[in-house]
Amino acid sequence: MKKLLTLIVLAFMANSITAEVLPQPRHSDSGMSLDEALRLRRSDREFDSARDLGSQQLSDLLWAAVGINRPDEDKLTSPTALNKQEISVYVFSKSDVSLYDARKNSLTKVADGDHRRLTARRAGFEQDFVMDAPVVLVIVADVAKFEAPADMATLMGAVDAGIVSQNINLFCAAEGLATVTRATMDTQAISSLLGLAPGQMPVLNNPVGYRR
Ligand SMILES: Cc1cc2nc3c(=O)[nH]c(=O)nc-3n(C[C@H](O)[C@H](O)[C@H](O)COP(=O)(O)O)c2cc1C
Repeated sequence: MKKLLTLIVLAFMANSITAEVLPQPRHSDSGMSLDEALRLRRSDREFDSARDLGSQQLSDLLWAAVGINRPDEDKLTSPTALNKQEISVYVFSKSDVSLYDARKNSLTKVADGDHRRLTARRAGFEQDFVMDAPVVLVIVADVAKFEAPADMATLMGAVDAGIVSQNINLFCAAEGLATVTRATMDTQAISSLLGLAPGQMPVLNNPVGYRR
């Protein structure tokens, strides 16, 4: 009887985990050179709250951030120290929060509802413009993957997160989207919402949308 109940609970749990498969990354034909993207790169804090990103754009954006660019070697668009690939990207949208799975090119929902507010603030400081961005990408480093002293592991995780953020910045510059690298966020509340393990640190976030 106990076994049967466990099976029913497991089946229910499997059912409630929803994964949205994204369109294949399109490897944009924006035609923009890297030099031009670098010239356009800037922090934008004015988003058009009425314009959402399409799923193709989201797929392209996530691939640029931390997608697989060499499937044969299982390697990523962003380098990581010792190839630990310890960075995860969560998408906070108006309707839910989901985790990008680069290998499956999909988003797995981890929470229902609009939790962007948690990315807009930290104690005593709030950046309301974040709520105008249709999505906020939260970059989490699992520093427990480094078998190194804590300060070294934290440093590597922070550096790797910064590189992912810059990939997002350059993608947005090339695609005419607005974004800004941000450290401000309620890391404690986000960690508890996402059910992060002690070694998993939300390091940076990038709100992304159309420029107002
Ligand atoms: C690690 C890091 C953390 C940042 N945190 C924030 C932030 O919390 N909020 C914000 O509005 N901008 C933040 N910024 C953006 C900087 O303010 C911005 O890059 C700087 O003013 C230079 O402007 P530019 O990006 O347009 O060149 C951050 C940038 C970096 C690199």
